[in-house]
Amino acid sequence: MAGAYQETPIGYVQAGIELDSLPTDLHHPAVTAYCQKMLLRHASTRERLPFLSEFYRQTLASIAPVHSVLDLACGLNPLAIAHLPLAAGAPYAACDIYSDLAGYLNQFFAHFSIPGTASICDLAAAIPDQSVHLALLLKTIPCLEQLDKTIGPRLLKAIRADHILVSFPARSLGGHAKGMPRTYEAHFRQLMEGLPFTVQRFEFPTELAFLLSRT
Ligand SMILES: C[S@@+](CC[C@H](N)C(=O)[O-])C[C@H]1O[C@@H](n2cnc3c(N)ncnc32)[C@H](O)[C@@H]1O
Repeated sequence: MAGAYQETPIGYVQAGIELDSLPTDLHHPAVTAYCQKMLLRHASTRERLPFLSEFYRQTLASIAPVHSVLDLACGLNPLAIAHLPLAAGAPYAACDIYSDLAGYLNQFFAHFSIPGTASICDLAAAIPDQSVHLALLLKTIPCLEQLDKTIGPRLLKAIRADHILVSFPARSLGGHAKGMPRTYEAHFRQLMEGLPFTVQRFEFPTELAFLLSRT
């Protein structure tokens, strides 16, 4: 299921060698080009790439600057860090089920001296309990629900964040819309019943996002 988003192997060893030869300034054009190339290798970030800057600008405008991030089931999304409106020195914790991904992301954070850590997690078994300003739960609920139908509200209740940016795909991996935004929105509203959040809604070409803020 997790592998559906990685049609071809990411190639972490080669990616790590290329990373080592890059300048250490995250905003250097060679680094921007490298991050874009890598973001294309995971279907989830590939779909977001055409509107990546707009995605974070719009969804996080009301809470910028962000003081700490927990990126759950992160995929390669930490490579989009330059697009997030972060406060200087904001810690970035990321986790995913793949250990080679976590290793590569730790190399990425170290190379650019980002105060970041990547770890392995299985959100179906345990939810990280650190407190943060912003948690990201991007396009992950439908994935986890294939294994456990009760995980959505459990996750949203357990995440210790002032704000949670949750998103759903608005297209299938094959590119078809099939009424997905309407279906996911109805599903999301159900998941949210009784939870103590205010909700802002954002629609992008392939992604429907909600910023939840604790009331
Ligand atoms: C649709 S992708 C989303 C990736 C990233 N959040 C984004 O939007 O770019 C789903 C991610 O969930 C991860 N994943 C799947 N099952 C998981 C689990 N049980 N615990 C943690 N991560 C999991 C996959 O490895 C994959 O990176």
